[in-house]
Amino acid sequence: MTHQVRAVVARGKGAPVSLETIIVPDPGPGEALVKIEACGVCHTDLHYREGGINDDFPFLLGHEAAGVVESVGEGVTDVAPGDFVILNWRAVCGQCRACLRGRPWYCFNTHNAKQKMTLTDGTELSPALGIGAFAEKTLVAAGQCTKVDRTASAAAAGLLGCGVMAGIGAAINTGNVGRGDSVAVIGCGGVGAAAIAGSNLAGAAKVIAVDIDDRKLETAKKLGATHTVNSKDADAVEAIRELTGGFGADVVIEAVGRPETYKQAFYARDLAGTVVLVGVPTPEMKLELPLLDVFGRGGALKSSWYGDCLPSRDFPMLIDLYLQGRLDLDAFVTETIALDEVEKAFERMHHGDVLRSVVVI
Ligand code: APR
Ligand code: ZN
Ligand code: ZN
Repeated sequence: MTHQVRAVVARGKGAPVSLETIIVPDPGPGEALVKIEACGVCHTDLHYREGGINDDFPFLLGHEAAGVVESVGEGVTDVAPGDFVILNWRAVCGQCRACLRGRPWYCFNTHNAKQKMTLTDGTELSPALGIGAFAEKTLVAAGQCTKVDRTASAAAAGLLGCGVMAGIGAAINTGNVGRGDSVAVIGCGGVGAAAIAGSNLAGAAKVIAVDIDDRKLETAKKLGATHTVNSKDADAVEAIRELTGGFGADVVIEAVGRPETYKQAFYARDLAGTVVLVGVPTPEMKLELPLLDVFGRGGALKSSWYGDCLPSRDFPMLIDLYLQGRLDLDAFVTETIALDEVEKAFERMHHGDVLRSVVVI
C-alpha cells in the first residue's frame, strides 16, 4: 500500500518551496512510517533549497521532527505503532569502530530508509538529512526513531531532533561542562541558546551570552545566561575575560560559524580551557593564528557534530527534564506555522526574527 500525503518540496536551486502531494510507501524491512506532528524549520533546510548541500533535487525538506509511529516493517522491534518518537538524522550500526567508541555520528555504516518516497509522477524525492518531515507522513529507517514520553507539545519535542540537541550536546557532551564552570557562548541563535540551557543543566556557575543582536541576548537571559555581551558595542574577548576575573572561560562554545567568532572563541578561553566549535563555516573560510598561541594556551579545541548525542540516551533524558520543568524547550518555539508557511519562515529566519518556527500538522 502507499499513502498520498501533503509535503513541502524544493524543486530546484533557489526556487521557492511548494506544497505538493507525495507518495509514501508502506514500511519495508527495518523501516518505519511516521505520522508527523511537528517539524522545526532549520537553516539546513534553507541550505538544501539553495543547492548548498548537493543538487539531488527535488528535496523533501524538514528534519527536526516528532510524531507517532503508524506502522513498522519486518524485523523492527525497537519501536511499535503508537510510539511517540523523535527522529534523528540516520540509523547507526552500533557495531563499527566509531560506534563502539561512542562516536555514532562518525559511524561507517549509517543508513536511512531504503525505499524512496516520490512525487505523483514517480520522480524520486531526496529527504533532507534522510528524514523529510515537512510532510503529513514520512518513511525512515526504524533506527532513526527514538521513543520518548508523550509531551503536550510535539513542537518542543521535535526540536531535540536537530538544532537544540546540537547546542545542548555541545555543552554537556562535547564541552563536558561541569559544576562551577564558566562558559561563554558566542552566537545565541537556536543552537547557541540551547548551549546556554545545556550549560545550566550541567551546573555552570557563569554563563556568558555573546551576540550582536539584543533580541537574542534577551532570550539568552530567559534560558539562563548570567551575563550578556553585545559584541557590536564591546570587544567580546575583553568582556569575557573581565567577567571571568581576567582569565577567560573554562569552556567557550562558538555557534556562529565565522572566522572572527572562531578567533574570539579561541582567545576567550582560559589557559587550558576548552573551545567547542558548533557553527559550521563555508568551504572558503580561513583563519590564521600564531602557532605560539595555539600551543601556549593549552587546553582543547573540539568541533561538535550533532552535539555528540546518542539519541537513545539523550532524547529520553532531555524529554524527562522538559516534563519536569527543568528544561524550557517551549522557549525555543517562537511561532507555530502551517505546512504552507515554510517559505515565510525562511524569510523570517533570514532576518533573525525567530529562534525557531515550527510546522505543526
Ligand atoms: N558575533 C556574535 N554573534 C553573531 C555574529 C557575530 N559576529 N554574527 C552573527 N551572530 C549571531 C546572530 O545574531 C544569531 O543570533 O549568531 C546567531 C546565529 O544564530 P542563527 O542564525 O539562529 O543560527 P543557529 O540555528 O543558531 O545555528 C548557528 O550552528 O549548527 C550551526 O549551521 C549552524 O552555523 C550555524 C550555527
Ligand atoms: Zn537542522
Ligand atoms: Zn557504526
